[in-house]
Amino acid sequence: MSDKKRLAAEKAVELVQDGMKVGLGTGSTAYFAIEAIGRLVKNGYKIVAVPTSVASEKQARELGIPLATLEEVGTLDITIDGADEVDANLDLIKGMGGALLREKIVAHSTRMEVIVVDDSKIVPKLGTKFPLPVEVVPFSYGRTRSYMEELGCRAELRGGDTPFVTDNGNYIYHLHFERGIKDPYDLQRRLKEIPGVVETGLFLNMAKKVIVASTSGIRVMERV
Ligand code: A5P
Repeated sequence: MSDKKRLAAEKAVELVQDGMKVGLGTGSTAYFAIEAIGRLVKNGYKIVAVPTSVASEKQARELGIPLATLEEVGTLDITIDGADEVDANLDLIKGMGGALLREKIVAHSTRMEVIVVDDSKIVPKLGTKFPLPVEVVPFSYGRTRSYMEELGCRAELRGGDTPFVTDNGNYIYHLHFERGIKDPYDLQRRLKEIPGVVETGLFLNMAKKVIVASTSGIRVMERV
């Protein structure tokens, strides 16, 4: 499994050119991309990078990758990140690593969002293999849960009695949809209408390329 992740990540890093502003994703696949970007920096590439989590920031610092904030660099040329599910439309579920908010902010400010996955992440319908992570404000999170469940899902607080706290000081709910997500665009709109919902793990119309590694090699899915 990690061989496939490395393969996809290293293929994506071939798209990084000297002088680019690069977004660093989060998770076990993005980890390999950050490693490969670290090698480019060692080889003399002048790159500046914006990390999507405290964990990715730490890894990048250890590798000597020059870092900046989004405020400092503005639009990024490329971001390489993982995903939990990818459908045929290149729409995604992300956030099982708990970093969806910063990942989405960075993706939104990126010209080329490149997603790296192994083939187990490809699904016919989002929400079938993984729940949908949603970041919520801790204030009155129980009320927020009720409103989300009115949309036809079961909401499970990540961490249960000891809630997982994101890098932004918020909680995460995992939304389980029994038959998957019927209309991700409609669901995104409805969830964002609920006060207390900060962001969802639905990354719609954001990925430009998805690099998929399988035992038979690499396949690139592209948004046209
Ligand atoms: C982090 O919050 C996530 O969005 C990850 O990108 C996603 O969970 C994929 O992670 P892995 O590459 O570890 O499967």
